Formats: sequence, structure tokens, C-alpha cells
Amino acid sequence: MHKPQAKKTFKNKDWKVWVDRDLCIGAASCVAVAPKAFTLDDEAKAVVLDTIDQEQKETIVDAAKACPVAAIFIEDIKTGKRVFPK
Ligand code: F3S
Repeated sequence: MHKPQAKKTFKNKDWKVWVDRDLCIGAASCVAVAPKAFTLDDEAKAVVLDTIDQEQKETIVDAAKACPVAAIFIEDIKTGKRVFPK
């Protein structure tokens, strides 16, 4: 079985997702909303999983919205615009 790798920033041809570790307080709402996209690392900070592609983009945006400190950032690669937070 594929073991998802965690990294700080995820990027594909459409979008870029990252977690600001200074902001993250380990609330884990993002993990609850999008478990294939986020997990907590040893320091109880969110990291992006490489299985993030298996989540719908809307789910990722919902996860970002669910974060109480808005530590998750999403950028549209094509437009270069911030999808969240606006
Ligand atoms: Fe951190 Fe926010 Fe997730 S505080 S653990 S990025 S919900």
C-alpha cells in the first residue's frame, strides 16, 4: 500500500497548497475535513500529504476555511491568485 509522504508544500499544475507552521496551532480541523490532504507531524503541526490529489479541491478549500488560525494557504497556479485566504 502506498504510504503517503508528507511535505510542507504541495504543488501540481493547477494549484499550490502550503501550511504556515508558525501560524498552525495543531487544531487538526484540516485533518478532520480532508484526511487525505493533511496530517499532523511530530511537532503537532499540519503537513500536506502527497495524497492530496485524491481530495476534491472544494474539500481542500473547506479544510483551509475550517482552520481557526487560517494557517492553510491555497494558490491558483494559472492565475497566480490566492484562492484562500482571500
Ligand atoms: Fe494547523 Fe489549522 Fe490544521 S491550526 S492542524 S492547519 S486546522
